[in-house]
Amino acid sequence: MKGRHIILGITGGIAAYKSVSLLRLLIKAGAEVQVVITPAGKQFITPVTLSALSGRPVISEFFTANTGEWHSHVDLGLWADAMVIAPATASTIAKMANGVADNMLVTTYLSAKCPVFVAPAMDLDMMAHPSTQANIERLRSYGNHIIEPASGELASHLVGKGRMEEPENIFKVLQDHFAHGLDLAGKHVMITAGPTYEKIDPVRFIGNYSSGKMGYALAEEAAERGAKVTLVSGPVNLTASNPNIQVVKVESARQMLEACLETFPHSDIAVMCAAVADYAPESVADVKIKREHQDAPVIRLVKNPDIAAALGAQKRLGQILAGFALETHDEEKHAKEKITKKNLDMIVLNSLRDPGAGFQTDTNKITIIDADGSEIAFPLKTKREAAADIIDHILSL
Ligand code: CTP
Repeated sequence: MKGRHIILGITGGIAAYKSVSLLRLLIKAGAEVQVVITPAGKQFITPVTLSALSGRPVISEFFTANTGEWHSHVDLGLWADAMVIAPATASTIAKMANGVADNMLVTTYLSAKCPVFVAPAMDLDMMAHPSTQANIERLRSYGNHIIEPASGELASHLVGKGRMEEPENIFKVLQDHFAHGLDLAGKHVMITAGPTYEKIDPVRFIGNYSSGKMGYALAEEAAERGAKVTLVSGPVNLTASNPNIQVVKVESARQMLEACLETFPHSDIAVMCAAVADYAPESVADVKIKREHQDAPVIRLVKNPDIAAALGAQKRLGQILAGFALETHDEEKHAKEKITKKNLDMIVLNSLRDPGAGFQTDTNKITIIDADGSEIAFPLKTKREAAADIIDHILSL
């Protein structure tokens, strides 16, 4: 964080008082912070406090009234290594999403070349409104990082989602961002994610409970660290926000295999995170199987291709192939067998016996096992944090 140039944008919300703590944390960590505050923000927190703590005059207007000095949002945008807007009100988020440049903060945002972090803060109904949600999605699609608000008691005394994330956690997001830097710049990373669906008839399939969250977290983490990412994704309810992620949507294991065979030869790293169905129906009925017309049908299954093993067989020197193993028993033994069988460089083991690990959850408890048998066990973390650990480990190989 030392010596980093950070723009701290403050808008008109009750949570503006918390920006003071964030500013202090940034300054204490050695960052140079330029505060840009909206006119409404000044109703909540005085520029005197902010300039005293940051050691720089706070910028709010396009000009300093008495001297006529112009504040160049373009220069500021170039100066910054990161911009963080905390709190970001519904109004500022809407302006950012739509390019309404009527104050210094939004013009600076539009000129910024650096990563932008947005910490929304508003009442729960404003947060839940489709308009706000659509604007937040838009910011995500521009590659901005949304620091999700927490749930809890709000200024209105209502309880729900909309409370700005705590300054310590916002600080940590920035700290992590700078700690990793762009250590995957120039690398191409392929990630598989989600379940596969194996068709039975036009309306039915065999699938599994995979949500895709771990694979998407890996893709976001890799892209943020400078990689070009191809995310081969089975059917999930997630979207990738970073513009460096190309999503290739597939449904079945065979389609996933085809996409992987096409992408793997020009990848430096592949992480096989998908929960691929092991079997598919031998044949797919052309029309819906009707209940009245027959006894309980028997669906004959055939084995699906092992995608990781297919890539392992064609892996070149210098390529890293990582797999996942979700086990329910004899976890280590099974994971180690998979490393050998699929010619992996490492495997990420999660056990369904660990609470908070596995499908659908936002957390994971992983153990990374290398081809030489060495193991590192990590505590329960968010899937995004686990993704950072996995990428750190891949880089160490
Ligand atoms: N995998 C794959 N293609 C398959 C099955 C698995 O690419 N057809 C990958 C997964 O993405 C994961 C690893 O192989 O990285 C291990 O998956 P898992 O389902 O645990 O292993 P299987 O080989 O299917 O063994 P089993 O289901 O019997 O435990």
